[in-house]
Amino acid sequence: MPGVLKLWETCPSGLDPRVDAFLSSLSVDTRLLEVDLAGSAAHAAMLGEAGIVSKSTSEALTETLAAMLSEARSGSLSPDAGSEDVHSFIEQELTRRLGDAGKSVHAGRSRNDQVALDMRLYLRGAFAEAGAGVLDVIGALCDLASAHVETYMPSYTHLRRAQPSTLAFHLLAWCAALERDYGRFADAARRADECPLGSAAVAGSGLPLDREAVSAALGFSRPSRNAMDATADRDACVEYAAAASTLLMHLSRYCEEIILWSSAEFGFMDIGDECSTGSSIMPQKRNPDVAELIRGKSGRVFGSLVSLLTMQKGLPLGYDRDMQEDKAAVFDLRDTLSGVLPAFCALVEALRPKPAAMAAALETGFAEATDLAELLVARGAPFRDGYAATKAAVAAASAKGTSLASLSDAELARASDAFAKAGISAAELAGHLSPAACVARRSLVGGPAPARVVQEIARLRLFASSVIQARG
Ligand code: ARG
Repeated sequence: MPGVLKLWETCPSGLDPRVDAFLSSLSVDTRLLEVDLAGSAAHAAMLGEAGIVSKSTSEALTETLAAMLSEARSGSLSPDAGSEDVHSFIEQELTRRLGDAGKSVHAGRSRNDQVALDMRLYLRGAFAEAGAGVLDVIGALCDLASAHVETYMPSYTHLRRAQPSTLAFHLLAWCAALERDYGRFADAARRADECPLGSAAVAGSGLPLDREAVSAALGFSRPSRNAMDATADRDACVEYAAAASTLLMHLSRYCEEIILWSSAEFGFMDIGDECSTGSSIMPQKRNPDVAELIRGKSGRVFGSLVSLLTMQKGLPLGYDRDMQEDKAAVFDLRDTLSGVLPAFCALVEALRPKPAAMAAALETGFAEATDLAELLVARGAPFRDGYAATKAAVAAASAKGTSLASLSDAELARASDAFAKAGISAAELAGHLSPAACVARRSLVGGPAPARVVQEIARLRLFASSVIQARG
């Protein structure tokens, strides 16, 4: 738009309008308005304290910036479409309102350290929001798990029935990964906790800026340690995208399991009508669209990570304009997470498990076979012999169309003499090989035994509430 001079223009340069529009980031970085106003206010206050501008100029700047911040919050401050970016808009608006005082705000500052600061302030909120969203998901999973500590179902490897387990144990496997996801956001937030302001364009400033004061005023632990790195670094964006990608990779897997489990072929659960959709043509259908769309969003999130990495990989230090592309990726990630995480909670709340169908899946497929082999081990057989004897028993039961626990003493003996040697009778097996017995025996740390699972749910709840409390 003609009429608004760039900050770097002293007279109209006649920038080609096609280039002007192309270079502008305002339509995207308007989202940084509030953090930029906060950062600018801290800088302006410091300029006054350090004697770089007069007290009255500093006060005029901070008061006007505060007024602009409340206008921004109420939605009445909208950036001039002709500004090159949100940073330019703020300085131009200060100058429009204050005259010369407005022109002082950029002393000792560059848009390079300004935008680096803005992204860190923005990401501080984004990290916290993602962490809180992950904790909500863990909470929803713990609620469902609590009700299904003794809901027996097969565990799977290679999507084939493997060993008896419970629904609660499976849900806690999801939580274990989500706890790491929480940690990734929290770790990245800690690393991003440095204030870049005062780095200026690339090599710092010769003015007596008080970097410590600005850093503290903006709630950072310390100023960044190298002006060139601070203005060229977008690691926090990459780490946010990487943590989001790992999270979405997990959620995508869980959604896939929900889709399988809720299919007629598995029949392990239904998805309540509040979280499933119908077909416009097939009246009988309910579709798992929420799970599918979360699975689909993972591609979009991975795409943002790849954009951020590729955007930076060939850049010489310090700042290059390529880095302007960081914002679209980060904003899209935050929008995506803020849709996905509550939707996943709703999906978990809408699951209606069918314990009888899960239990039925344990009646065939010999998921209890490892337990028989381990019984032989417990009675002194070498594992490989116990394995071979059990394999023979599985073949016998399979041929007869029955379960291991239904084999007679004679059938066991025909399968292997290891059973008699170990003093194992058919009568003993029924109790020993029931799903409840198999699961209860797996009581080691990390196992599915109900007592362990109850402890683990309590630990997860404590973890979630302690981090929520620590954040205040
Ligand atoms: N809009 C720019 C960005 O987002 C701000 C920094 C501009 N710096 C510069 N030297 N042109 O990266």
